[in-house]
Amino acid sequence: MKIGLLGFGTVGQGVYELTRDREDIQVVAVCCRRARTIPGVTVTHDFQDIVNDPTIDTVVEAIGGLHPALEYVQAAMHAGKNVVTANKALVACFYDTLLPLSQACGVRLRCTASVGGGIGWLSELERVRRIETVRYVGGIMNGTCNYILDAMTRLGLGYDEALAQAQSLGYAEADPSTDVDGIDTWHKLIVSANVAFGVSLTISDIPAAGIRNIRKEDVDAFRARGLTCKLVSTGKHQGGVFSAYVQPTLFTQEALEAHVPSNYNLIALEGNVSGRQSFFGQGAGRYPTAYNVVQDCVDLMNGGGFYSPYGEKVPIVNQEKLCYYIRGEYTQAAAERWGSAVITPPITVAEAHAWLAAHPDGFLAALPNRR
Ligand code: HSE
Repeated sequence: MKIGLLGFGTVGQGVYELTRDREDIQVVAVCCRRARTIPGVTVTHDFQDIVNDPTIDTVVEAIGGLHPALEYVQAAMHAGKNVVTANKALVACFYDTLLPLSQACGVRLRCTASVGGGIGWLSELERVRRIETVRYVGGIMNGTCNYILDAMTRLGLGYDEALAQAQSLGYAEADPSTDVDGIDTWHKLIVSANVAFGVSLTISDIPAAGIRNIRKEDVDAFRARGLTCKLVSTGKHQGGVFSAYVQPTLFTQEALEAHVPSNYNLIALEGNVSGRQSFFGQGAGRYPTAYNVVQDCVDLMNGGGFYSPYGEKVPIVNQEKLCYYIRGEYTQAAAERWGSAVITPPITVAEAHAWLAAHPDGFLAALPNRR
């Protein structure tokens, strides 16, 4: 396999290092902005050099973001090249563009590193689907939020202090919005649920609540009741109805989720044969992410393609009823007060997220679901 690598940042360098001594997979060209010398590799600023190189059969996209990643991946597919990417935003937002295009061009796309970094999550979902029907996917998919919530819970830090720590450790970016507003988790949920259920979810129907507004007083109230807050994604397929949402969720100490430390991920599925399976590991970082990019390259060499067939477009119906901890102006009937917050009676997920949309300074977290 001859790879044209787009981007030579954290992930791109990791892919180069992991393949440097392999005979079967070679990075032959790198497209990056900065002039640099990479032994044995052609370095270019011009993406057309990659597209027009007939010796390159696979493009590894490691530049991130939506543009120009989308245009580069489309051009690579039109040129007959397979594509491997770790870019969850790209795959989530342009699922309906990239899946049909890859089919039309007769090329293959893989993106295992886009969800769970080094965890073999999407590749295992592919195997699970061979045997059984998946009815649930979800869990802790964002290391930055888990780090912040863990530091607030275990070390008693305030939000700003915990975020600053996450930034100094390189987990959170200078502008942490994508992580703390739940957008990164939203992207990962969309990709996971599309693969698991073999459909294309209507992404504008999927709400995401983040952790930006959580305060020390919230975490203190949770801790006093033996609860731990985590940012969690949920995707369900029951009786032909699809639900999907991202929200802070409270867990009792019996739950595995309550014990996920630092920047780790814990992602689970439920199938109708194997029951519940959970996957724990590092959801980000150079080597974990590059590991799954190279695994995808090996899978492509072995004839592998996308994890599931491109499926029909489906709407989302979030009518599941949950009790919520809500801090902010809430005028509906409230069951109980926890400090300055209220606990709602069971309300639909859609109602809870509609409240948040109308109260952007508020905070909500779902109470433990009786499983
Ligand atoms: N910002 C992401 C996280 C990185 O914190 O999990 C990997 O997608």
